[in-house]
Amino acid sequence: MRKALSILLVMALLAGVLGFVPAVRASQAVVVRMTIGSTKATIDLKQVVLDQPPLIENGRTLVPFRFIGEALGAQIGWNPTNRTVSYILGDKNIVLTIGSATAMVNGVKTTLDVAAKILPTGRTVVPVRFISESIGAKVAWNAATRMVTVTMAATLDVGIVLPTKDEPRWLQDQTRFNTALKTAGYGAEILFSQGSSAIEKQNVEALITKGIKVLILCPQDATAAAAAADEARAAGIKVISYDRLILNTSAVDYYVTFDSISVGKAQAQYLVDKTTGTKNPLYLYAGAASDNNAFLFFEGAWDVLQPKIANGTFVIENSSEAVALQGKATLTRAEMAKIIGQITTNWDFTVAKNLAEANLTVATAGRKGNVFILAPNDGTARSIADAFAADKDVKSYVITGQDAEIPSVQYIIDGKQSMTVFKDVRTLVKDASAAAVDYLTGKTPEKTTTYNNGKINVPAKPSAVISVDKSNVKAALIDSGYYPASDFTGLP
Ligand code: BGC
Repeated sequence: MRKALSILLVMALLAGVLGFVPAVRASQAVVVRMTIGSTKATIDLKQVVLDQPPLIENGRTLVPFRFIGEALGAQIGWNPTNRTVSYILGDKNIVLTIGSATAMVNGVKTTLDVAAKILPTGRTVVPVRFISESIGAKVAWNAATRMVTVTMAATLDVGIVLPTKDEPRWLQDQTRFNTALKTAGYGAEILFSQGSSAIEKQNVEALITKGIKVLILCPQDATAAAAAADEARAAGIKVISYDRLILNTSAVDYYVTFDSISVGKAQAQYLVDKTTGTKNPLYLYAGAASDNNAFLFFEGAWDVLQPKIANGTFVIENSSEAVALQGKATLTRAEMAKIIGQITTNWDFTVAKNLAEANLTVATAGRKGNVFILAPNDGTARSIADAFAADKDVKSYVITGQDAEIPSVQYIIDGKQSMTVFKDVRTLVKDASAAAVDYLTGKTPEKTTTYNNGKINVPAKPSAVISVDKSNVKAALIDSGYYPASDFTGLP
């Protein structure tokens, strides 16, 4: 009982933090043992004391109504007006009326052999087999020991598939998911695709086999992931596209994301704000062309940079395709694809480093000096920054990033990276968890906009981002409780 109560307490606390009511099945298996006439019972072999011993009536075992509900992780209700007791667990809703042989299971009438009743002691008891089986647990009766064993199998409600463990960004998501969804009493499992769409598909299939009801998928490759989303949909699973949009399938129910256009705008604005005069050398880098976000980041950045290229503030140094299009304020996806094709890092540190070095090799000393670098994220920013720092003709550089990865926050403190765009993963995880819980409890998550994925308009809820440099790093990342100060040295 104590364990059940403490679980409920944690769930209630998290409900406050996460903004939802956890009323789905307990993720862990539970075994409850009770003996007729004895106040001693066990939950997972831990002894608990009942305020009312189980009793037999009409061949059926009656047990204390709160105890069995709490032990199985159900939400319990008592309505003194109608004299009903109720249990809610996942999609199960059971209502018994005191003294009545009629009960309701998900709104359907069912006849009981023995009614729930209030004993002369004032204790309410219910038929244990009926409650347990209606909730989805199994019941065994040992006539010799007069012991009832109720077993609830572990359930996996939510499957989460993230792109790779090799980038600190996705480890942030893993950590935040672990402290949110799982602790809140949901069965959740997180798998990583390690940069491979084939592994991603296997991960999704493994989770489908394990019986998940909601899939939270951050696609490695936006288009390749459509097949995995289709499989999940065919198995009746709700699909939440996480951070990156899954493209060209109607099998996406919801999209939880940051405002990626704003990310690109914030990066570009930072560069613009640091310029003086004209003809400032501008080096452009982008994410992976297989990631829809790479286009959104670039689109946002282009929006801010293009007028400053057109008016001579910047000179593009490393992309002939971008130079060819520099007169156009708005680019088509195909035009962006041409530019990205030349400046892609593929989200890979080594590709980023090699590309930066290659760009520096062909650039003349006169086109170096005080340079401005649009780096798409923190991992690539560190590689590119290292390459520029190593070039003797580079006098100074301003370089962007995103994700507020710990190593990049340290780079910012040390003056090796200029800024990052902080995307508070706690918010994304909270929104994804809330959406998952909505689906698990038969609701529809809140949407504030839609994103077209080439097939459908996917309901979405993008969240805001914050531009961070040395001047606000402490306030944004330490004082906000995102990272402990002890993760860094030399904080301003
Ligand atoms: C994410 C970024 C991340 C990048 C590389 C993007 O889709 O939005 O936060 O840095 O992928 O993994």
